[in-house]
Amino acid sequence: MQARDLVRSVKAVGSVRGRLSLRSAWRTRRTDARGLPGPGAERARVPGPAEGADPQPGGGVVRFARSSLRVRVAAGGAVFCGWDGAAPEPSYALAGACPDADDRAVLEPDTDGGWRVVSERVTVAVSRTGAVEVRTPGGVVLRRDLPPRWWEPAGGDAGRADGDAGRAGGTAGPRWEQHAQVAADARFFGLGGRAAGPLLRDGAYRLWNTDPGGRFGPQDDPLYLTMPVQLVVADAGTHLVFHDNTWDGEVTLRQGAEGGGSGHDRPGRSRIAMSGGALRYWVIVGAPPRVLRGWTALTGAPAVPPAWALGPQHAVWGSGGEREVRQVLADYRARHLPLTALHLDIGHYRGHRVFSVDTARFPDLPGLAAELRGQGVRLVSIIDAAVQAEPGDPVYDSGVAADAFVRDTRGQQVRGVVWPGEAVYPDFTDPRARAWWAGLYAERLEHGFAGVWHDMNEPVSFAPFGDPTLPHSARHALEGRGGDHREAHNVYALGMARAAYEGLRALRPDERPFLFSRSGWAGLQRYGGTWSGDVATGWPGLRASLSLALGLGLCGIPYSGPDIGGFTGRPSPELYLRWFQLAAYLPLFRTHSATTAGHREPWAFGAEVLRHAAAAMRERQRLLPYFVTLARLAWRTGAPYARPLWWRWPQDRALRDCEDAFLLGDALLVAPVLAEGARRRSVRLPRGLWYDTATGRPHRGPGSVVLDAPLSRVPVLARAGAVLPVAGEDGGVELEVWAPAPGRTGGGVLVEDPGDGWAKARVSRFTVRTREDGVAVEREGAAEVGFPVRVRGDWAAAPSRRRR
Ligand code: NOJ
Repeated sequence: MQARDLVRSVKAVGSVRGRLSLRSAWRTRRTDARGLPGPGAERARVPGPAEGADPQPGGGVVRFARSSLRVRVAAGGAVFCGWDGAAPEPSYALAGACPDADDRAVLEPDTDGGWRVVSERVTVAVSRTGAVEVRTPGGVVLRRDLPPRWWEPAGGDAGRADGDAGRAGGTAGPRWEQHAQVAADARFFGLGGRAAGPLLRDGAYRLWNTDPGGRFGPQDDPLYLTMPVQLVVADAGTHLVFHDNTWDGEVTLRQGAEGGGSGHDRPGRSRIAMSGGALRYWVIVGAPPRVLRGWTALTGAPAVPPAWALGPQHAVWGSGGEREVRQVLADYRARHLPLTALHLDIGHYRGHRVFSVDTARFPDLPGLAAELRGQGVRLVSIIDAAVQAEPGDPVYDSGVAADAFVRDTRGQQVRGVVWPGEAVYPDFTDPRARAWWAGLYAERLEHGFAGVWHDMNEPVSFAPFGDPTLPHSARHALEGRGGDHREAHNVYALGMARAAYEGLRALRPDERPFLFSRSGWAGLQRYGGTWSGDVATGWPGLRASLSLALGLGLCGIPYSGPDIGGFTGRPSPELYLRWFQLAAYLPLFRTHSATTAGHREPWAFGAEVLRHAAAAMRERQRLLPYFVTLARLAWRTGAPYARPLWWRWPQDRALRDCEDAFLLGDALLVAPVLAEGARRRSVRLPRGLWYDTATGRPHRGPGSVVLDAPLSRVPVLARAGAVLPVAGEDGGVELEVWAPAPGRTGGGVLVEDPGDGWAKARVSRFTVRTREDGVAVEREGAAEVGFPVRVRGDWAAAPSRRRR
């Protein structure tokens, strides 16, 4: 036990739950000592020399002395590489059937004795020793994966050239590592939600979904939602690499350096080391929007939240019962503050048990829900993953009857400790357990809940020492293949989200499910979004909130946002306000905190903060048609609502390093205030003309400008030529058009809200031109624009190019 663990365990003995968790941690240790293979002698293996190749659709298999590599280019241009016989399926990440092979991509001998596959968008070259290069059609190398190395038990036979990646019967297979080189100027992003980013610094990043224990700051890593997805942005091109492997692992990154005059560049490097499972990966190349489009084509389109989930939301713990809920809403109304959803935390449960209601405090939850809905406010319910282990409890009993709970190697239920005390864990990798769990959402719907908030699903078992999750030897169904928690852990929450999504769709077929989940993995977006979890109150936590939202968006999960003001501790009024102003431009706009952290309602920080927070809320409501549009665009194209500044300008190196601003769709650039006391801030602009939306003044990029950032607002710029759909005074949609520079055109899209069901949304495209007599707006395929238009911005005030 390490010193830090000792402190944790001494603290634990102070409470009943603490004592339970201490016992549970010892139990976990014992279970794993029994259930996991001990360390033994290992033998290293590399592929060895190439011996031949067999063409197949989209590429083929290259045979090496001690392994084999399958290369397959899919129809959309995504490249699959699988060693040791690994195939793209089965996969938790893929949305459906594996994409078809590109029949025009053929495996052919290369000049140096290796092989290559040439396709329209990408060339893959495999060297004689098993290095794999991904090149642009022009021949520029975007990524070079060096020959991998496996370590297998000495005397074992896992992972041979013709093996099934060593996974038969659910064994770990060999652990492995692979080094890769990228361009010297490349920058790394992604790996799921990382608090220190979005630019990933040199260092090691663990791939293991982890509850940091009630609070986290930028130094904490890993967090709740990790995934082996790297987005690599370089002058020569952008690519995404996804290692389809759910095991515990580590990615180590090292940025390269350019040699300048010497011409000796040091390439960027990354290394991935996994503790088991298949060595298989996908590479998608292209401009960032193309890459994200390809990624969501592979792993699924992001679920479209209902419009009410794009408005201002607030969470209450629930311990104050119906009275507290009514009071909170009345307080919002009294101050004329908009609110579209109230979230109920675990205080509304009976004894913290999932799928229960404390009827003493909530005697008529359906009535309350209906009353709220009448006022345009939806109720969202927290859902914890673990179930109290108590015979007689209907959820527990039905789970036992369905044989839904995770067992250990001896067939005993695995028990952990969470809020209700001793708890058991549904096996979300088991289709039968998912079906049982899916049915439980009927109870939530009967109570009038409109959406769900999944929590503690890394999964967590409180532990004063060791890993605060299930024993790694715990058995899981893994869709019938069988395996243990080492393989199932990272996809546990993904399976829970799938169960909920499928359950809600079946139970309430006319409405789109709304769910967001603390943990997840590649593909979570198919079912819903996420949030930042227990971000620590403080200015670093504010920065971490932005980093998480941007990083997750680049991994295909566009819907997220922070606990405004931080989860722990009391923010200063200024910090709260700056957090509020940032979140007003992120998809999930929600105030929430720990019970011990005081209030988070906008009036809790004084009259001045209330005034400015109210303005941010009104602006958010005004932008609702834009958010609805962005949600639909994310579904159609995979583009996150909140994007790093380099999204359309990946070759602008200054933008690649810029972490304190973001694009909201194509039209807006948001520059939140992330530093205490700042009343002005420098804003880095991409190419083109950008209007300060507060003053209407234009600024020309690329370059930096210093803009006012009074307490009342954060700088927001609009791209010249943008068409921004906003809510007019009467609630109808209006088009706010930002004048293009003369001779330039612009445009934008509006996707109208078709309601909370599945109706097809109407998409309108607009073009904008500057003419002698002003700005002309046209709607594609229609004689009339059909919406009121308001033109803003005066390009004539722009600084000329020469003067800069
Ligand atoms: C942990 C979650 O991160 C937090 O948001 C929630 O309030 C608590 N669990 C209690 O449910």
